[in-house]
Amino acid sequence: MIRIGNVTIPGRISLSPMAGISDSPTRRICRKFGAAFSYTEFVNTDELVHRAPKALKMFRFHPEERPITFQIFGNRLEIIAEASEIIQELKPDIIDLNMGCSTRKVSLRGAGAGLLRRPVLAGKIIEAMKKRVNVPVTAKIRIGWDSTSRNYLEVSKILEESGADALTVHGRTKEMAYTGLADWNAIGEIKVNRRIPIFGNGDIKSFQEANSKIQEYGLDGVLIGRSAIGNPWIFSEIKKNELSWSDVSEVILQHLRWMIDDFGEEFGLVLFRKHLVKYLTGLDFDQAWKTELLEIREWNQFEDLLLSDKRRNVLAVL
Ligand SMILES: Cc1cc2nc3c(=O)[nH]c(=O)nc-3n(C[C@H](O)[C@H](O)[C@H](O)COP(=O)(O)O)c2cc1C
Repeated sequence: MIRIGNVTIPGRISLSPMAGISDSPTRRICRKFGAAFSYTEFVNTDELVHRAPKALKMFRFHPEERPITFQIFGNRLEIIAEASEIIQELKPDIIDLNMGCSTRKVSLRGAGAGLLRRPVLAGKIIEAMKKRVNVPVTAKIRIGWDSTSRNYLEVSKILEESGADALTVHGRTKEMAYTGLADWNAIGEIKVNRRIPIFGNGDIKSFQEANSKIQEYGLDGVLIGRSAIGNPWIFSEIKKNELSWSDVSEVILQHLRWMIDDFGEEFGLVLFRKHLVKYLTGLDFDQAWKTELLEIREWNQFEDLLLSDKRRNVLAVL
């Protein structure tokens, strides 16, 4: 059993935070199939300090999602510390500082992966957060800004010494964004040199691979991002390509039902499209049927069409 501070994490494989993807319904679907804990999308501390309703809404969750980590990003110590205190009112189990976002808008302002270039400041931010909240504080980092500044040992040391209760490491530099391959040896090196729990992340494509990475690098756990979209079964022994269409369609409808409960019928359906495309990946079906499904704006129509004439539309699970 892993512990992050005083929080027990019931498992070792979980869903990575993904803006625009890892909302509450999606986290719940993943938890249902075995994801160990919940991790929100990142939320801007500049908005949180003003208690902007839109920002606070990003932290809505259901009790069955616990333990839940709220992720925040920012570039100013005082703002981040204050935002941490504000969101603590919403009762997260853990608060996480994003130090990995590679988008220009975030990282060039010194937030997200931008903090990798200022490890001392990052350490001070963690210290300040720890002073303001009474839940564990963690950070999610990359291994450096670019190939000439892979400062992951320095960064992880400073964060640990500043009181971080655990770290997640995406084994790429900021410069790589999502290209190339994650460097798992670097993640393993961090694990060997630190005492706090370390979660590895990057390019995991199956449950088996997740377990072998944990074993090989002696990690406390791993997070799966992209390969979990449209495949919540990845958190269990169940292989998507061995499921029947009725198993898959049942989960699609459950996921969508939850999206609609949280976001309303029309917006829920729109938000669900990117998930649907991934759920259908690897299945053989009629393209016109898919196009039609992606345009529907009412639950009843969606359900009817999804379940209509199954054999014609979904010929086989590949
Ligand atoms: C669409 C998308 C959104 C993401 N948003 C976040 C985010 O909000 N916070 C974060 O720490 N990482 C974010 N990430 C990075 C992922 O958590 C993860 O580190 C990365 O995708 C590598 O893992 P994977 O290869 O399993 O996808 C995002 C990734 C994607 C693809």
